[in-house]
Amino acid sequence: MTAKIISVFNQKGGCAKSTSTVQLAGTLGLRGYKVFVIDMDPQNTSALWALAATDTPFPAEILSFAPLGEHFVEKVKTLVERFDILIIDNPPALDSRVPWASLLISDLAIIPCIPVMDNIWASRQAEDLVERAQKENPSLQATYLMSMVRRGNVFDQCLTVLEQKAKLPIMKTKIAMRNAYPESQIFGCVVGQFGNSPAAKEQEALVDEVIGLLGIKLKKRVNKL
Ligand SMILES: Nc1ncnc2c1ncn2[C@@H]1O[C@H](COP(=O)(O)OP(=O)(O)OP(=O)(O)O)[C@@H](O)[C@H]1O
Ligand SMILES: [Mg+2]
Repeated sequence: MTAKIISVFNQKGGCAKSTSTVQLAGTLGLRGYKVFVIDMDPQNTSALWALAATDTPFPAEILSFAPLGEHFVEKVKTLVERFDILIIDNPPALDSRVPWASLLISDLAIIPCIPVMDNIWASRQAEDLVERAQKENPSLQATYLMSMVRRGNVFDQCLTVLEQKAKLPIMKTKIAMRNAYPESQIFGCVVGQFGNSPAAKEQEALVDEVIGLLGIKLKKRVNKL
């Protein structure tokens, strides 16, 4: 077994990196994949999220390696043989070496982006980092994931701007702004563990799309929504 590695990154703060990481990891875990999340953000959001689980353990392993800084990659070597998928939750920092180290070992970079202009302006820096990393890691794929999407002309217009200027593809699945996401933090779970809901459905669609990009064997969820 050699794990596929996903980097969730964007230097822009608060664009849903940790939420995307945790939901993706847990939803893949519910499908039967062995998933390990490396929390590289000193705020420990992902690690604390999993620790909030009470009755049912979180469906993926999540640990903070943030104190190791860019040297966390040494730890990854020991994990790739034990897991199907590793997901790295990156810190929101332009001056950190961690996203760079993370992109160099990844198969897929997911860049969460809210359809508002400040996120779209910042996307240039994320694209530059991907472009440089792809020179050293040519197998790295990268894609935007629209997050906290709301209905309305403002958001539609911003999405159109990104579609026109983006050098990277945008995932077909879009994640809406929903109370279910902060609610799932309270219970230390993913939205799919609440039963069937629009949030659960969009996460299942996201998992299908990610599995397609990684080119790994599709596992369907056993206990249906
Ligand atoms: N789809 C969503 N619907 C509603 N709230 C959301 C959604 N996604 C994220 N949030 C909320 O937005 C806030 C920021 O999300 P999150 O912590 O995932 O961002 P981040 O990019 O990891 O932040 P940081 O840059 O600080 O690491 C959190 O309070 C989270 O609960
Ligand atoms: Mg975060």
